[in-house]
Amino acid sequence: MRKPIIAGNWKMNKTLDEAVAFVRDIRHALQQISTVDSVLCPPFVALPAVAEALQATRIGVGAQNMHYEASGAYTGECAPNMLAPFCQYVILGHSERRATFCETDEGVNKKIKAALAHNLTPIVCVGESLDQNEAGQTHDFVSGQVRAAFAGLSAAQAARCIIAYEPIWAIGTGKSASAADAGRIIGLTVRGTMADLYGEETAQAVRIQYGGSANAKNIGEYMQHPDIDGALVGGASLKPEFVEMIQSTAAVKG
Ligand code: PGA
Repeated sequence: MRKPIIAGNWKMNKTLDEAVAFVRDIRHALQQISTVDSVLCPPFVALPAVAEALQATRIGVGAQNMHYEASGAYTGECAPNMLAPFCQYVILGHSERRATFCETDEGVNKKIKAALAHNLTPIVCVGESLDQNEAGQTHDFVSGQVRAAFAGLSAAQAARCIIAYEPIWAIGTGKSASAADAGRIIGLTVRGTMADLYGEETAQAVRIQYGGSANAKNIGEYMQHPDIDGALVGGASLKPEFVEMIQSTAAVKG
């Protein structure tokens, strides 16, 4: 009942030419798959060209970040209304933004509201550090991140969001969480917190992805877990392997 969604977070990779060439290579294969939503999130400068290359396809485009204001003196930032012509999605609160660019829960909350106001679907990232994981703090920390991210949002607004559970220790490390652990945290902690906030019906409607060293080899295991509705993919989304991941997801969940 929840349509699976696989999003590729390219991070700071691929020049404009490389981005367009890659999209042209994979778009036909992705277009064949109707049972999984696929999304590509290139760097800002490639968004218009990628959006053009994907015009009239079912493949979505997302930004990797966004400011919450519509305009102003925010050097280096992009506003929601600037992104909206090219994107349907925007990744918000990625752990790299939180760690390296000092993003706070409050800022993520403002960005979610701004994205929804411009009809962009937020992909809201949450996840614990290795220290927190080892100290047994995962549930409390991730639940707190979800509560802070969704503060002041209605159930209808929350239902329009996607959440990505990405344990920080699994991102880019090749050390992925087991499907059982990821599924348990997604089900009990992330969806459980959404149920506390909004009730079971809304919690069951929200799509929740796993992220962190997901690849063509392990995606099938994640997708077999009923609580995991897709993946936010970094490194593997830069390669043709990304197509295999979406095909595998369709085979398991489609
Ligand atoms: P990774 O990145 O797949 O390279 O671990 C995931 C992410 O940061 O979204």
